[in-house]
Amino acid sequence: MIFEQIATGGCQSYLVGCADTCAGALIDPEVSQIDRYLGLATRDGLRIRFVIDTHTHADHFSASRRIAERLDAMTVMHRASPAPAIAMRVDDGESIVLGKLRLQVLHTPGHTADSMCLVGADRVFTGDTLLIGGTGRTDLPTGDPEALYDSLFGKLLPLDPALLVYPAHDYKGRSHSTIGAETLTNPRLQQRERGAFVAMMKSLDLSMPTHLTEALRTNMSGGKTVGEMLAEATAHVPFMSMAELRARVESGTHELVVLDVREKDAYEAGHIPGARLLPRGQLELRVDKELPDPTARIVTCCEFGRISTLAASTLRTMGFQRAVALDGGMKAWLEAGYPTRAGAQP
Ligand SMILES: [Fe+2]
Repeated sequence: MIFEQIATGGCQSYLVGCADTCAGALIDPEVSQIDRYLGLATRDGLRIRFVIDTHTHADHFSASRRIAERLDAMTVMHRASPAPAIAMRVDDGESIVLGKLRLQVLHTPGHTADSMCLVGADRVFTGDTLLIGGTGRTDLPTGDPEALYDSLFGKLLPLDPALLVYPAHDYKGRSHSTIGAETLTNPRLQQRERGAFVAMMKSLDLSMPTHLTEALRTNMSGGKTVGEMLAEATAHVPFMSMAELRARVESGTHELVVLDVREKDAYEAGHIPGARLLPRGQLELRVDKELPDPTARIVTCCEFGRISTLAASTLRTMGFQRAVALDGGMKAWLEAGYPTRAGAQP
């Protein structure tokens, strides 16, 4: 068996494969690691056939759809998943076949209604149902402490105590545990009586995960994250450093157009000398009037350097092939002590 564990912060994802047939699967891939997964699969000689999410993640951005599209692989989730366009929906007791390997589906609702664990020969991928020294929380959408009790005590813990446990999260750098060790030492599993377990889960006062709504939006719809949109724009646009732009502005040659895409108030409070104002929200509709020369060399700028990247990408899409983005924003420009002008556009 070929096996790789890939950590992203506290999120754990896994690449597993059959050494005999080169068939592989990715479990819970995260969007910032796509190049790493593809690199590891190539290095290990694996053809990724399945991209599996153990549940609808509320705290990380799933890369499943993106990778499946790229590799012509199957997306796999439990039947109860709300995500559209899952190529293969699976249910309790079924197995995903990877060459000579089998991953058996154990439907373990509780953390979410669509949570499942994947049981292999010597290990179980527990998603967020069972963590090392913890369990998944039950206070996010479709969470249910009663269901989690049944999944843990009725399904997962009765498995072979020697099975290795590979969870979807670990924030302390541990790679795995075993069913036996968790049964003995996991503090949450010491509440073996249903009422006490449910009361404990309900009394946990956990803060909401960052990006909760964005993660649910993208994971349930297959839509893009803000980070992905910025990464795509960044991959299509050259950048100009602040020092380079300053030198060019101060040379007074007027060979480039500095296009400030912030709102009018921000522009008037302070802008790069000579910059022109064209707010991002009006860019597409006003650009032909404001910039009639599509061969003009344009440097976009904004407050932090993100909106200006999107704006430069839009300009390139529209045919302004010399549009570039400032590498930084007005905040950094000011902090660097670079010159600005206040007031309305002349
Ligand atoms: Fe989760």
